[in-house]
Amino acid sequence: MDYHVKEASLAEKGQLRIEWAARSMPVLRSIRERFAKEKPLQGMRVSACLHVTTETAALAQTLKTGGAEVRLCASNPLSTQDDVAASLVVHDGIAVFAIKGEDTDTYYRHIHQALAHAPQITMDDGADLVTTLHADKRDLLRGILGGTEETTTGVIRLRSMADQGVLGYPIIAVNDAKTKHLFDNRYGTGQSTIDGIIRATNRLLAGSTFVVSGYGWCGRGVAMRAAGMGAKVVITEVDPLRALEAVMDGYQVMPMAEAARIGDFFCTLTGDIHVIRREHFEVMKDGAIVANSGHFNVELDLEALAAMAVAKRPVRDFVDEYRLLDGRCLYVLGEGRLVNLAAAEGHPSSVMDMSFANQALCVEHLAKHAQTLENKVYGVPEAIDREIARLKLKSMGVTIDQLTDEQKKYLHSWEMGT
Ligand SMILES: NC(=O)c1ccc[n+]([C@@H]2O[C@H](COP(=O)([O-])OP(=O)(O)OC[C@H]3O[C@@H](n4cnc5c(N)ncnc54)[C@H](O)[C@@H]3O)[C@@H](O)[C@H]2O)c1
Repeated sequence: MDYHVKEASLAEKGQLRIEWAARSMPVLRSIRERFAKEKPLQGMRVSACLHVTTETAALAQTLKTGGAEVRLCASNPLSTQDDVAASLVVHDGIAVFAIKGEDTDTYYRHIHQALAHAPQITMDDGADLVTTLHADKRDLLRGILGGTEETTTGVIRLRSMADQGVLGYPIIAVNDAKTKHLFDNRYGTGQSTIDGIIRATNRLLAGSTFVVSGYGWCGRGVAMRAAGMGAKVVITEVDPLRALEAVMDGYQVMPMAEAARIGDFFCTLTGDIHVIRREHFEVMKDGAIVANSGHFNVELDLEALAAMAVAKRPVRDFVDEYRLLDGRCLYVLGEGRLVNLAAAEGHPSSVMDMSFANQALCVEHLAKHAQTLENKVYGVPEAIDREIARLKLKSMGVTIDQLTDEQKKYLHSWEMGT
């Protein structure tokens, strides 16, 4: 079998960690049990470009159980868990092409290797696989039924392709499922981003000023958890509605030019470019810690920072010190890549349970219905979203009320008033 991982001998450790994660993924487990009986993906070739984590391993196993032939590469050069990659190869016979810390050339070579079996379905997180395929491997487009996309940034890129009429096959935006972004982006990114910052720095959040850029689903989660740890949270935004919401949620809101002067910690979660740039680095306090948890590291203008610095050195795992001309030192975590995956382990499994249940059911949906879809970006079918919410509640032992007949009638009527 073709594969490229760091070290096959890490497989035992990886297997134990995958089992640990799978324990917290009951919804995906129930799908896997059904897939084992029904084999809905029999013979289907799937190329997946996802963060190679324990939860992704559980998803890949589920797809394989459903009959798919899966090839997996990383969706970020720093997010691979090498023991997980090894275990998937050794114990599951899944072709993985991913090594933590791979350079950009290797990252793209791995994407090409993941595509080498001419996929019928693609799974992406950030749209690097889909864009590579459209740029370099157009001959494969004809054989592709459809694809899925995991994250906000990928959905934005794919919608732009669809708007320009260049998207070659239908995509389901898994990110847009309510059971995905309301939980994964908010609670998953919230907890794991703080986890990444703490693991990398071991600094105390209580009493610090913590600047969060972007008050979207991810930013709300990080702000909520930083405040919970005792930090004074400052939000920067460009959208007046989101900014207003942040104000009413009790946070200070100000432009980055002001926040840059007072922050002890900075974390960008915008999906935008150069949110923190030269003019901001110029006024930051000595010792400021700068991280990004948005999809790409372009949120921080690290080239400008490197040009401003007189010296740069790694001072801890995933912490680079940039010494500036005036003696101030700024610290960048995980090379500006998603800090929760670079310096920690990504989202906790129980939240990925829902995201990846969406992925598994959307792949099944594409296998059955792709022929009826156009080359557009689709939302997740509502029935899938509701079913995942129902299964998750059930797995948590939570029951809810049912509408009575009287209530159903009332909620569909207009006659009854004061
Ligand atoms: N770290 C992770 O594991 C993880 C998980 C999910 C999503 N993401 C990524 O995080 C990013 C944010 O995702 P989201 O779902 O919160 O998106 P979102 O669209 O809900 O929120 C983004 C917010 O950033 C704001 N913004 C844009 N430019 C800005 C700027 N220059 N300054 C301040 N604010 C700005 C927008 O107005 C918006 O409110 C995306 O890149 C997404 O792919 C990361």
